[in-house]
Amino acid sequence: MSKLARRVSYPFTGEQPVLPPTGHLTVPSKDDVIAFYRTHERVGWSLTEILDLDWRDIRVDALTQTDIDVVETVMLVESNNPDYVANLIEYFKADQDVCDFIMMWAIEEWKHYYALREYLAKVQIALEARDTSAGADADRVAAIEAAVQRALGQKVGDVREASGENWGIPAHYVPVQVVASTTLQEFMTAEFYRHHARHTQEPVLAKLESLLAKDETRHEMFYEQRMKDALEADPGLMPMIVEALKEFGMPGAYLLEAYTARQAAMEDAAYPTLADKKGAFVALFSKMERIIGRENALRVFTEGNYMGDGDEGAAPKKKMRPELITRLITRKLSA
Ligand SMILES: [Fe+2]
Ligand SMILES: [Fe+2]
Repeated sequence: MSKLARRVSYPFTGEQPVLPPTGHLTVPSKDDVIAFYRTHERVGWSLTEILDLDWRDIRVDALTQTDIDVVETVMLVESNNPDYVANLIEYFKADQDVCDFIMMWAIEEWKHYYALREYLAKVQIALEARDTSAGADADRVAAIEAAVQRALGQKVGDVREASGENWGIPAHYVPVQVVASTTLQEFMTAEFYRHHARHTQEPVLAKLESLLAKDETRHEMFYEQRMKDALEADPGLMPMIVEALKEFGMPGAYLLEAYTARQAAMEDAAYPTLADKKGAFVALFSKMERIIGRENALRVFTEGNYMGDGDEGAAPKKKMRPELITRLITRKLSA
């Protein structure tokens, strides 16, 4: 299909009744946007350093196959940024300040995609050059690079085709539900990068993921504050937020083939031991508790399809028993 003909409507906004402008105004002030920009400038990191990195400077022998697989998974999810932006801008178009924020957020997410994609390409070139002893032959390395980039481009194209069908966030959501869902997504992503950065033995990847984690945390904090502001202005929004969090799933589930296996690989790579996995749950629960209170957080995990990722074909994920949650949290507190 030609690029121009590929899609004419956004799955998120296509069928949705138009909200009045006042329905959109749940989110930031101009000061909030400027505050975000200041941190963007202050903590901005250099994509150029990754682009210009010599593939020989990556310690591929320190990488596991799982490291490489999970980098591909997160790169593909990050690659879908133009579609997230298109959907969000369309949805929030009545609110100038939200759109301004989305533009800044978008360039950070775009950097994540490019940095991860270039890193992965260099890893694949290094592995291929090593296995075929082509490392010193510039023409052969150029041919390998072209093949690697072609294959990655194909995978990224497949993700964008998939996102034209399903964007993951239900079309009927009101703005505060979109913000709630995005807050959790940013939190989970930050946690993944931070923990995987600690476990991978490859120094370039560890450094890159640490930088990405900091960006994702800033995104999460921005969205979280907007949700708190909206709740403060209208406490009646809480049940809708709880509903959205109960339905939450990571976008990879809608965008990627074999997501269940990819998700399991990500969990094992970032949280290799049972103690790590429990720690990840406690961190997630604590975050949720701070935003919506303990009672509501318990409801999200006991009534919701916890991390079911909306995959209707898959067996439903367990609804967690309250006693299990209490035990996990209490153990953490008494540790
Ligand atoms: Fe990102
Ligand atoms: Fe983010």
